[in-house]
Amino acid sequence: MSKTNDLSNLFPTENEIPAEFRIDQPICQKEFLINGELRVWDGPTQDVFSPVHLKTADGLTPQYIGSYPLLSDEVILQALASAVKAYDNGKGYWPTLPVAERIRHMQQFAYRMKTKKAEIVKLLMWEIGKSYQDSVKEFDRTVDYIRDTIDALKDLDRSSSRFVIEQGILGQIRRSPLGVTLSMGPFNYPLNETFATLIPALIMGNTVICKPPKFGCLLYRPLLEIFRDCFPPGVVNIVYGRGANIIAPLMTSGKIDVLAFIGTSKIADTIKAQHPKPHRLRSVLGLDAKNPAIILPDADLDLAVQECLTGTLSFNGQRCTALKMLFVHQSIVDTFLNKFAAAISKLKVGMPWEPDVQITPLPDSGKTDYLSGLIDDAVKHGARVVNESGGESAASLFYPAILYPVTSQMRIYHEEQFGPIIPVIPFSVVETPIRYIEESNYGQQVSIFSNNPEEVATLIDPLVNQVCRVNINSQCQRGPDIFPFTGRKDSAEGTLSVSDALRVFSIRTMVAAKQNECNQEILTEIIKERKSNFLSTDFIF
Ligand code: G3H
Repeated sequence: MSKTNDLSNLFPTENEIPAEFRIDQPICQKEFLINGELRVWDGPTQDVFSPVHLKTADGLTPQYIGSYPLLSDEVILQALASAVKAYDNGKGYWPTLPVAERIRHMQQFAYRMKTKKAEIVKLLMWEIGKSYQDSVKEFDRTVDYIRDTIDALKDLDRSSSRFVIEQGILGQIRRSPLGVTLSMGPFNYPLNETFATLIPALIMGNTVICKPPKFGCLLYRPLLEIFRDCFPPGVVNIVYGRGANIIAPLMTSGKIDVLAFIGTSKIADTIKAQHPKPHRLRSVLGLDAKNPAIILPDADLDLAVQECLTGTLSFNGQRCTALKMLFVHQSIVDTFLNKFAAAISKLKVGMPWEPDVQITPLPDSGKTDYLSGLIDDAVKHGARVVNESGGESAASLFYPAILYPVTSQMRIYHEEQFGPIIPVIPFSVVETPIRYIEESNYGQQVSIFSNNPEEVATLIDPLVNQVCRVNINSQCQRGPDIFPFTGRKDSAEGTLSVSDALRVFSIRTMVAAKQNECNQEILTEIIKERKSNFLSTDFIF
């Protein structure tokens, strides 16, 4: 039986879906959150189909799971007005609230969010095809991220809760919010990566308009009431619609102070260009990447295969940090390819709820055609698919394909595949992968595989100035979230670790005075009488 038949057979009939993972009723969402109210939309909506297809009498059919509002410009501008009013040029309740109070709101939010875990995990599986175990991980990681953000803010605030005296000037330096933030995350981590900007933006005192990603939208529905209840009106606004329609009215208004966007550099450029006051706009961007692995002759090949397997194929390769190009030394390339192909053949392909499943349906309906196009192009230019059944597809399932040997004539050499294709380039001198990285438009991370300290050291120094994380005998990844996550060139703007994110969503501001008796008395009275939230020596425990 050909693999194509096998892949089609992996989709379930309706009755084969385990009871605990069924969506009993489609979620036809009408609600959205503006100015602390859950408003109801009676205009056009967007149907949501899962990447999970069902076997039906008419063949494989994507499962309908609900719909969400396609809000009008008018409503989007109401969300903007609500965020602008809540910020009130920095005079609003939220931006002037003491840090300890903002933390209290956030703790309440995290506490209530945890009660929605099962619902959100199930929606992650249905909306983006993420496996149950990875969906649970995404949820838990997000809750941990909120906890760690609170701890990091306490630390930051403690170190700002004192005066500095320098050259006869007294000063208190703190971090203040930037203003109205537009926060938009990607479909591959619709909860975690949206929250990676939304949470620090909020806790630093900014007000936020959040647009959930195209896939991974319905999973925000269980959170709407919690956002409404845990934050003052206008501080969090959750809006829905097509990106192109929603973003333009917000950006062209000139009232967005911070753009927090994780997606492609092409879209980020378009969005930024819409803002009439480029210097007012701060951008925090996580963008494209094409992280390579360099596998040297003295690498532990079993380890390299294992790391490259997860590096290229976790969540079907749909991670910005995925390994998207493997440079393998020509002396070991045949052995590497054999081992890698064998490892792929053991991966479990199936539906998100199946235990230990690793390859699951892809959410973008045009994705399998795009990936097949990349393979056809590479084959036309002299590559072959090394592993059995590589590149076969059925509906939204795509069987991982190792392409070898890849050259610069091929599209896969340049394009970020964001899917289960593993291009392999043989090399004889390390200058080959180094040149690739230097000439690339991207500069996020690299992985080096070798057991030879000399060889590793020779690569570290040129590469740390090309990318922002050099991984040794390990796949590329963002976490743990306390580590800095950023990139050079078209890969990022700003840095997003737990503590760096607090910095990118705020600006250092100080109150200063010449140190004389009169000023000392003024400052002492303000502090003693607690007349200011900014000027304060309170210590958060
Ligand atoms: O899509 C890009 C993500 O930031 C990757 O995060 O390395 O933790 O999977 P991860």
